[in-house]
Amino acid sequence: MSQKKFFITTPVYYANAQPHIGHAYTTVASDVLVRFKKMNGEDAFLLTGMDEHGAKIAQKAETENKTPQELVDEISEGFKLLWEKLGIDYDVFTRTTEKKHKNFIREAVQKLYDNGIIYKGEYEGKYCVGCEQFKAESDLVDGKCPDHNTEAELMREESYLMKMGTEQEWLIKMIKEDKFAIRPERYKNEVLSFLKNNKLEDLSISRKNVNWGIPLPFDESHTVYVWFDAFLSYVTGAKFWPSDINLIGKDILRVHSTIWPIMLKHLGLEISRGLFVHGHILSDGKKMSKTLGNVIGIDEMLEQFGKDGTRYLLLSAGSFGEDIDITMERLTEKYNADLANGLGNLVSRVITLSSDFEGLQVSDFEIENKKEFVNLMNDFAFDKALDYVWKIVRESNKYIEETKPWELKKTKRDKFAEVMTKLRADLFLVAGLLKPFMPETSEKIKKQLTNGVKDILFKRL
Ligand code: MSP
Repeated sequence: MSQKKFFITTPVYYANAQPHIGHAYTTVASDVLVRFKKMNGEDAFLLTGMDEHGAKIAQKAETENKTPQELVDEISEGFKLLWEKLGIDYDVFTRTTEKKHKNFIREAVQKLYDNGIIYKGEYEGKYCVGCEQFKAESDLVDGKCPDHNTEAELMREESYLMKMGTEQEWLIKMIKEDKFAIRPERYKNEVLSFLKNNKLEDLSISRKNVNWGIPLPFDESHTVYVWFDAFLSYVTGAKFWPSDINLIGKDILRVHSTIWPIMLKHLGLEISRGLFVHGHILSDGKKMSKTLGNVIGIDEMLEQFGKDGTRYLLLSAGSFGEDIDITMERLTEKYNADLANGLGNLVSRVITLSSDFEGLQVSDFEIENKKEFVNLMNDFAFDKALDYVWKIVRESNKYIEETKPWELKKTKRDKFAEVMTKLRADLFLVAGLLKPFMPETSEKIKKQLTNGVKDILFKRL
């Protein structure tokens, strides 16, 4: 039987600034999913990478007195370093400045130009450099982009345009029939309602005044629009196609649900199977901002909670499709309650009690029997999947208190053996289920169960 394949992408992140907690959130979630699929015997593949062209990056490089290439090289290294600190097991780290990618883009635009899908025209609109997108008046609040709180610039320039409207009915059909599945459901409805009420305009796919980009092969005075460029890195970095999931934050849903599938169709490529959209991380109820002083640094989290602690806290903080709200205080509380006390305590008690428990065998855990957990993971319900595991942790701690194995040890050896067998098997199961979330902790627990050497997992803060 051939191995089932699974291919997930994170967005390719803008290389204009060092990574933050939001980037970490998406990437950790993708990593957890890929590890979970691999554990289930699937041929799972994770692509992440960098979006390195365009005005936003060129402007940043200028303010830092660097060449754009110097800037993107430096920032890409910063992202890679963070992925290492977070234990991200990606298969491909793609960059839009790579030669292979650039060649593919040039071929792609040439093909669309030859087929009359891309044509020369003029484009007028309000452009937000932060989003790298033209904005409709209805997207702006007092002329400003609500995501970046900056004035969108009015631009009118010669441009090459890609046909969009011709594919609108097809796109609606693909989304409705889940051939291009958008999850959770409410984001699918949001996109369908947008498509019902708005006619898709042809898209400006080139810029005349942005030099930091890939020149159009048929008109070198233009460079390729960054989103067109970035989307295709999902393809150029792939080992197989189509992708199963493009995991994205809700901020980039509109472009991913319109431009992206239409581009693929025009290029004669299979469309991606779908999107999964997650909410944003807020800090104390508000968008994180330097001015508000409520930014929670990902390095700060890593320092406090370690690799696995950070991974756990990010994914257990709330439902993955919704916005989640965190503060350092609440994260610390949860760390102490769930990790230092809950899991840490359980492991330490079971290992201590196991020390004079001989002849113990625990079979490796079998995930097939854990249907409920598997379904939650396949639904991206990470917080609920973790709740499921913590139910076992809490029940085991309670079982220890009720059965008092340290007393049984002296008086009733048979009963002691029965209690310990159950505890050790449950802990083995916990370690197995936690493997995609906390790979190192999972290994440590299994090791302690097999060799009996005690090692503190999480120190109380
Ligand atoms: N370069 C584009 C994506 C191109 S994909 C073909 C881009 N890059 S980005 O660096 O701005 O990253 C955006 C992504 O970062 C979001 O979609 C989301 O995955 C993540 N997040 C950014 N801020 C976030 C939060 N505050 N909370 C959670 N995730 C957020 O857009």
